[in-house]
Amino acid sequence: MEECEEKFEKIYENQGAALWTFSKPPKELVHLVESGKIQPCKVLDIGCGEGYYAIYLASNGFSVTAFDRSRRAISYAKQHAKDAGVSVDFFVLDYSELDTLEGKFDFIFDWRFLHEILDISKRKPYVENVHRLLVPGGKYLSVSFSGESDYWGSGKIRKAPTKIKLYFGKLQDLKQLFEQFFNIIEMKLIQVPEKPDMNIEANYFFMEKL
Ligand SMILES: C[S@@+](CC[C@H](N)C(=O)[O-])C[C@H]1O[C@@H](n2cnc3c(N)ncnc32)[C@H](O)[C@@H]1O
Repeated sequence: MEECEEKFEKIYENQGAALWTFSKPPKELVHLVESGKIQPCKVLDIGCGEGYYAIYLASNGFSVTAFDRSRRAISYAKQHAKDAGVSVDFFVLDYSELDTLEGKFDFIFDWRFLHEILDISKRKPYVENVHRLLVPGGKYLSVSFSGESDYWGSGKIRKAPTKIKLYFGKLQDLKQLFEQFFNIIEMKLIQVPEKPDMNIEANYFFMEKL
């Protein structure tokens, strides 16, 4: 198992312990649903962790597919879906195998996932793949840590307290990356919570497939 993969499996050793795992969906996602900006449709959640946000959407009438590389996270996600009495297609997959995914989605989101892709040469093909998997006019929501902040150091690649390296992109860099494939409906900086009680600045992009 590669080093980073092992670190995630270790973090997920205890259910609910990961510093980013919250059973309550983020207010930004709730807003998209409650305002009708996204309506019940086929969804793909990339890097879904313990699956709570996928479950939230499934509970609101969405047909949800969700994957993560961590076997532990996916086994918890399946249990959470069972507990919530909803059906979500959860499975283990590495994002580098996105090419193997069949079908099309109306809405794709990666909540705190894009910053896991450190290799600059892999970021554009990833976004290209998201674009490929969307129907015409499909929506894409991406939230990732922001290089505008000084959390955990400076520069693009920073090491989190979990010892995992993350990519801190700036709004303008991400804008350049996304606008090759998407019409950007809304871009802004938001605060995302991290346990025990901090907030981290993140890039929020809500987009439509070009
Ligand atoms: C910061 S967590 C966010 C999880 C979830 N979206 C949430 O907000 O709770 C990042 C997730 O990406 C997953 N991940 C990291 N590298 C991955 C890869 N190469 N392919 C798929 N998932 C990956 C991790 O296992 C972890 O669950």
